[in-house]
Amino acid sequence: MNHKKKLYIETYGCQMNFSDSEIIGSVMINNNYELTNKISEADIIFINTCSVRDNAEQRVRKKLKELNAQKKNNPHLKIGILGCMAERLKSKLFEEEKIIDIIAGPDAYRYLPDLMTTVESGQKAVNVLLSAEETYADINPVKFGDNKVSAFISIMRGCQNFCSYCVVPYTRGKERSRNPQTIINEANDLFKQGYREVTLLGQNVNSYNWKEEDNVNFAQLLEKVALVNPQLRVRFATSHPKDISDELLQTIAKYENICKAIHLPVQSGSTRVLELMNRKYTRQSYINRIEAIRKFIPGCAISTDIITGFCGETEDDHKQTLSLMKWAAYDFAFMFKYSERKGTIAADKFKDDIPDETKGRRLKEIIELQQKLSKESNLKDIGKTFRVLVEGVSKKSDQKLSGRNSQNKVAVFPKKEFKPGDYVNVKIIECTSATLIGEAINN
Ligand code: SAH
Ligand code: SF4
Ligand code: F3S
Repeated sequence: MNHKKKLYIETYGCQMNFSDSEIIGSVMINNNYELTNKISEADIIFINTCSVRDNAEQRVRKKLKELNAQKKNNPHLKIGILGCMAERLKSKLFEEEKIIDIIAGPDAYRYLPDLMTTVESGQKAVNVLLSAEETYADINPVKFGDNKVSAFISIMRGCQNFCSYCVVPYTRGKERSRNPQTIINEANDLFKQGYREVTLLGQNVNSYNWKEEDNVNFAQLLEKVALVNPQLRVRFATSHPKDISDELLQTIAKYENICKAIHLPVQSGSTRVLELMNRKYTRQSYINRIEAIRKFIPGCAISTDIITGFCGETEDDHKQTLSLMKWAAYDFAFMFKYSERKGTIAADKFKDDIPDETKGRRLKEIIELQQKLSKESNLKDIGKTFRVLVEGVSKKSDQKLSGRNSQNKVAVFPKKEFKPGDYVNVKIIECTSATLIGEAINN
């Protein structure tokens, strides 16, 4: 009998990594492996890793320690490290972590079955070659463990912005755009399967640019995906402030099903620090882009990423970040302490000179301010009615459903007859800093 080997995939890091795990799953299924969601019954464990901050890598190291026991009980168990950490550390990882059998970088996933063959013959296997072309355009990602309502679609890979703190250009390689027709086909398929929301993914979606046959930029791609069906919501991430065009903002405004939420990482509110970070915009030009968003898309939510304690960041720089946050009145933010990454421009050129204590204190101030801003933003929504796409049952109560409005805010409301995938008009009655709470009306 043909016993299929069971593969368990664990994913760390950004949405792109989660999307990659679906590609990995698909490659493996097509080569006679099957997926399991029980790590204990796996023949193969793939860990799709992230290198963006030191703590992301530490979590993977901790996981590998846990797996030691499982490998002792089952010497046939194979363990693969995939993704950005594999790319960053390459075969050095074999020396550091003895239980690893496979190391595969982000552009090597087509070769996983070959690597498995090597491993089955008792050797270790590695492929960390980066590619200038690979987009996995023809691979139909397998959807696992998701809500069957909302899906990711990778539209490009790599990044060559070289923000001075960031490891991604080294782990993901050159920026390349995926054939738009394959993106539209994927969105169409997902809609037919019952999905009602797609998120287009890239490190800097604004620089999406397909140059073969006909030219397609990001605004045009977004429009094509929005036209797949008015009942299919479209989101996208991440936008780089230096490239977000008026054309794009006008496209977002034009289509009801393009969500009114823009993630626009600022990183710092100080032009001096932005320059050291090589972000290629100033505090003022960032402010101008937010003003453009507010002008073209009234009611658009804006979220951000912030790094605190970057090399040489003064108390005044920090205050400028706080004041910009207040001015922008962000609806949501991801906030991080600067973590030096070997091989980046900042690691080579600048000193990581802000004491951890100071980074911690500044981060605390940033987080506290954001909580206040998120709460204020949610309070303004009380009394408003939003079209909410139901994703599933609320974590806190099985009598309530949870979904998101166009602005990407989570809303919960009593279940009644509704189910995941339904659009429900929800009137907001109360809120916390993270959630809108309401009831369904006139559906
Ligand atoms: N391409 C996206 C983000 C990719 S990484 C963009 O440009 O916005 C996600 C976030 O991690 C970044 O926005 C940044 O805020 C944070 N980050 C990246 N490198 C970091 C580092 N070395 N230390 C701390 N945070 C970092
Ligand atoms: Fe990193 Fe900058 Fe590229 Fe984002 S745009 S992935 S922060 S280098
Ligand atoms: Fe991490 Fe790589 Fe994404 S470093 S943030 S998994 S691109």
